[in-house]
Amino acid sequence: MDKQYYIANWKSNKTESEVEVFFSYLHEHLRTVSLENKELIVAPPFSLLSKCRDLIKKYSLPIELAAQNVSSFPEGAYTGEVNAKQVKEYAKFVIIGHSERKKYQHETESEIENKISESNDQHLTVIQCIQDERSQIHKGASIIAYEPPSAISTFGVGEPESAEDIREVFRSLNGRLNGRPILYGGSVNAGNILEYNKIEICNGYLIGGSSLKPDSFISLLS
Ligand code: PGA
Repeated sequence: MDKQYYIANWKSNKTESEVEVFFSYLHEHLRTVSLENKELIVAPPFSLLSKCRDLIKKYSLPIELAAQNVSSFPEGAYTGEVNAKQVKEYAKFVIIGHSERKKYQHETESEIENKISESNDQHLTVIQCIQDERSQIHKGASIIAYEPPSAISTFGVGEPESAEDIREVFRSLNGRLNGRPILYGGSVNAGNILEYNKIEICNGYLIGGSSLKPDSFISLLS
C-alpha cells in the first residue's frame, strides 16, 4: 500500500501553550495507533513553527512540519513576508494555493507559480491545493490536495464530498498527476474517514477542524 499522508492544517489557530498541550498528548497517546505507511505532517502558523520543531524533537515524535504559505519573493525588502529560505529552517513541506488564501488574500495563479518556484529553489516539498478537476496543476508541486471549497468546514457550510464524487474527480485528474500523491480535504472527520479510506487512489488527507484537538487527530489514524 502507498504511503498515506495526514496533514494537520491548523490555519490561524493555536498559541504556544496550546501547542504544548497538543504535542504532550501525542507523546502519551500516539503509540496507541499503527503508524505503518503513514506520514504525519503538522502545518502550524509561521509564529509556531519553532515551538513545534522543539516539541517534536523533545518528544521524538514521527512528525514533519509544513508551512501554510510562503512568500512569492526571495529574501529582501518585502515587509511582512516569510520567504522559502526562512521556512526551510523549520519545515520540509509547504502548502500552497489554499482556497482560503485565494478567497481572503486574492492570491492569483501567477503568485502561486512564484511561490512554488521559490519553494522548489529551497527544496521544500510543495503540497498544492486545487479546488476542482479543472484547476491548474503546477509542475513544481509534489503532492496535490483536492479540496472543494464547499466541503471546507470553515467556509460555514462544510458539506463533505461523498467518496463516490471524490473517486470521480481523482479519476479525471489521474492523467495530470504524473504519479504524484493525491489527497482529499474538506470536513474530514472520524465519522467519514473510514469511507474515504476505501478510495483506492487516495493517498491521504488535508485536515483542518478535526486536526486541532490531539485526540480528534489521533482518532483519524486508527
Ligand atoms: P476542514 O479544512 O477539514 O476544517 O474542512 C480543511 C482545509 O481547509 O484544509
